[in-house]
Amino acid sequence: MSTRYACASCGASYQTDAVVYRCPRCEAEPSSGGFARGILSVVFDPTLLGAATRGEAPLDPHSFLPIPVPGSRAFPAGGTPLVEPSRLREATGFPNLFFKNDTLNPSGSLKDRASLLVAAQAIAAGERRVALASTGNAGASMAGAGAALGLEVVLFVSGSAPRAKLLQSLLYGARVVPVRGTYDDAFGLSIAYTRECGGVNRNTAYNPFTIEGKKTVSLEIWNQLGTVPDVVYVPTGDGVIIAGVHKGFADLVSAGLAERLPVLVAVQASGSNAIARSFREGREVTLAGTSTIADSLAVSSPANGEMALRCLAQSGGRAVEVDDAAIGRAQLELCNTSGLFVEPSSAAAWAGFLADRANVDRRSTVVVLLTGTGFKDVKAAERLVAMPEPCEPRLGPALELLDREYGSCRR
Ligand SMILES: Cc1ncc(COP(=O)(O)O)c(C=O)c1O
Repeated sequence: MSTRYACASCGASYQTDAVVYRCPRCEAEPSSGGFARGILSVVFDPTLLGAATRGEAPLDPHSFLPIPVPGSRAFPAGGTPLVEPSRLREATGFPNLFFKNDTLNPSGSLKDRASLLVAAQAIAAGERRVALASTGNAGASMAGAGAALGLEVVLFVSGSAPRAKLLQSLLYGARVVPVRGTYDDAFGLSIAYTRECGGVNRNTAYNPFTIEGKKTVSLEIWNQLGTVPDVVYVPTGDGVIIAGVHKGFADLVSAGLAERLPVLVAVQASGSNAIARSFREGREVTLAGTSTIADSLAVSSPANGEMALRCLAQSGGRAVEVDDAAIGRAQLELCNTSGLFVEPSSAAAWAGFLADRANVDRRSTVVVLLTGTGFKDVKAAERLVAMPEPCEPRLGPALELLDREYGSCRR
C-alpha cells in the first residue's frame, strides 16, 4: 500500500511506497531567510480504518499509521499513562488537569514513538541502517529502537549535546559521530551521509514519518479521556512534536470520530523563542543564537516552524514563553508534588500552563505533555537541590542533620 504525502508549503501531493523526505520542488528553492520549506505530512485516509477501529473504543493508534509496525512488542513505544495529579489539581483549582507521562517510553522520551515508526519504515524498505542528526533525545531513541530491532544507527551530534544522552546512544550500540559544529551542521552532514551511503534518514522535520509516529500520543489521549481535551500544552523547539499532536487529533476529526481539535499551546523557553515570537509578530523570526537550560528546546531556526505556526492557528492556539527560573521551579514542583522527574524541556510545559492558566476556564480538560525524563540531565537537576554532607552513622548526628537541613523531623 503506497502512502500519500502533502507538502506543507506548496500543497503538492505525492503518492509513493518509496521512502521520501521533503517536497523536491520546495526543497530546491533558495531559503528566503525564514523557516525551512517543503516539509511533507502523510495524508490520512480514513477509509483504510477497519470498521472495528471506527466503531469501538479504545481504538488502536497503530491503525492510523501508514504502514504496519511489527516491532512494537520488542520496542514498546507509547502506551504511557495519563496521570491525574491530585495535589496540583487542588493547588491550581483545575480538577481536570492531566499529565501525559511520555518520560516512560523505552528510551525515556516521546521520540520513541517516531523512532519505532522509522524503524518499521527502514525494515519495510529493506534497509538495515538509519542515520540521523540529533540534539540528544532523538538520537538516543533511534539508537534504542535500532538495538531492539536489529538496525544499525549512525548518529551525528553537535558538541553541545548532553553527555548522558550521548552515552545512552553509545551504550545502545549507535555509531556516534560528534561534529565540531552546530546541530545544523550535523543535520546537513547526516543528509549528505544517507545520500552517499544509503540507509533511511530519520531527521526530524525531514522524514515525514517522525510527525506521523508522534501523533500516536494524541490517539492515546483520546482513548484515555474518551474525548478530545480542551487544551494541550506542548514543549516546543523545532515544532515537530506539536505538529504530531495536531496531526493525531486532526486524523480523528477526518475519521469522523472527533468534532474538534484541542487548543494547542506551544511552550518555548524565552531564550529560544523563535516560534513564540513568530506567532506574536505574524512573521517568520529566526534567532542568532539560543540560551536556555532546556537544551531540547534550543533551536535558532525551527525546522518545522511553518507547520507549527499553522497548527497553532488551526487549533485556535497560542504560544507561551517561560524563562529558565520558571522552568527550574516547575521541574522541582513536578518532582515534589507529583513524583514526576522530568527534564527541563518538559518542565517548561508545566511552567507554560502556570503562566497561561488565567486564560483557561477552570472546568477545562487540560493535558500537559511531559516529553522526556529528568534522569538524562542530572546536571540541570543538581541546581535545584543541595545534597547534605554525610553524617556519622549514629542517631544523634542524623537527627541534627534533619533539624539543620529540613527543620525538625521529630515527633
Ligand atoms: C524531551 C523533548 N521535549 C520537547 C522537544 C521539542 O520538540 P520539537 O523540537 O519537535 O518541538 C524535544 C526535542 O528534542 C525533546 O527531546
